[in-house]
Amino acid sequence: MIQIIRTKDYEEMSRKAANIIAAQITLKKNSVLGLATGSTPVGLYRCLVEGYNKGDLDFSQVRSVNLDEYQGLSREHDQSYFYFMNDNLFKHVNIDTAETYLPDGTNMDAEGECSRYHEVIASMGGVDLQLLGIGNNGHIGFNEPDDYFPENTHCVRLTDSTIQANARFFASEAEVPRYAYTMGIGEIMAARRILILASGKAKAPIIKEMLTGPVRPQVPASILRFHKKVTLVADEEALSLL
Ligand code: GLP
Repeated sequence: MIQIIRTKDYEEMSRKAANIIAAQITLKKNSVLGLATGSTPVGLYRCLVEGYNKGDLDFSQVRSVNLDEYQGLSREHDQSYFYFMNDNLFKHVNIDTAETYLPDGTNMDAEGECSRYHEVIASMGGVDLQLLGIGNNGHIGFNEPDDYFPENTHCVRLTDSTIQANARFFASEAEVPRYAYTMGIGEIMAARRILILASGKAKAPIIKEMLTGPVRPQVPASILRFHKKVTLVADEEALSLL
């Protein structure tokens, strides 16, 4: 069952979602957060930074694991997810960055990196709250449409539609990495609570498919309907086809 919180726009989506994360870390100071990148959670991170600046939030005992990272991008590359997390959240709050984890995109040994990251996730003792965005094709993290649900962290070949969608952040489409490391569906589904965000008209068809179509690996996000505690915070445009 997916609980739906409808908001009028992106700003309200960001505030409502930030309130849920704020409640999580207020109730449990040493929460393990599963974090996400993309344009959708940027406003949420801004709200969390504001909450921290007001003295309402304390990240000192929070630990985090991110969903995914491009293969081959250095940490200094402004499109690496390592860079994104520092830029949007970590450097602005009192989180201990030694306790913030992402797959290492610079490790070209895919098998070694994926099993290392799986162990990192396992060592956290479970993710309390996993934040997700959704790709236009239904991907979560970088779990692209496929004919099965991958369980653990793995290396994916990005689909052409994802490469095109993400090209807007790079100088040209040719510069978008073709591979990424991502948490698997099994690891995502193991989180105690999941918070998924969606904003804008472009996401309306996939949100409808996720909520009302068959649960199937060709629409990776549809599996969330089998999780016990999922909240979708979405604006009117993203919910406009329901
Ligand atoms: C990216 C990320 C996802 C994200 C999705 C949607 O490629 N790997 O974690 O949810 O695409 O991105 P956006 O929020 O920019 O629409």
